[in-house]
Amino acid sequence: MERTFAIIKPDAFANKNVGKVMSMIESDGFHIVAMEKIIMNDQQAQALYHDLREKSFFGELVSAMTSSPVIILCLEKDNAVKSWRDLMGATNPKEAEQGTIRALFSEHIGANTVHGSDSLTNAARELAIFFPGL
Ligand code: RTP
Ligand code: MG
Repeated sequence: MERTFAIIKPDAFANKNVGKVMSMIESDGFHIVAMEKIIMNDQQAQALYHDLREKSFFGELVSAMTSSPVIILCLEKDNAVKSWRDLMGATNPKEAEQGTIRALFSEHIGANTVHGSDSLTNAARELAIFFPGL
């Protein structure tokens, strides 16, 4: 069994899609190890997106993620990292495969509904930031 880190982002709250995303997580066979509704602080958002700190959109990304509540989750399943990325779909919803969360619910690349760790190493790093007790 593998664990990954997931976020249900502010646009999911704004568009009333939180329950639908949770339902897809459950239907896809993930075990919810931990789940919390939080308002992320700047330090957490900057640490989460550390690899993107040089990008032009970094400031916008951090402010979008800290502007309103999000749900953070630790999800467990065989192959959880890849399985959750597959269910999310491509970063840009215009390129996301039919039936994925981002294809179904996301408005644009800056409001793409969910986050998922992109490797097992990053999953451990991100889980340590948001669920230090796990
Ligand atoms: P995430 O980390 O949120 O799961 O998304 P991801 O792996 O699919 O994409 P990543 O490259 O890690 O980018 C993180 C978030 O930054 C925003 N982004 N905006 N304007 C742009 O060109 C651009 N590129 C990325 C997206 O909201 C993306 O989810
Ligand atoms: Mg990423």
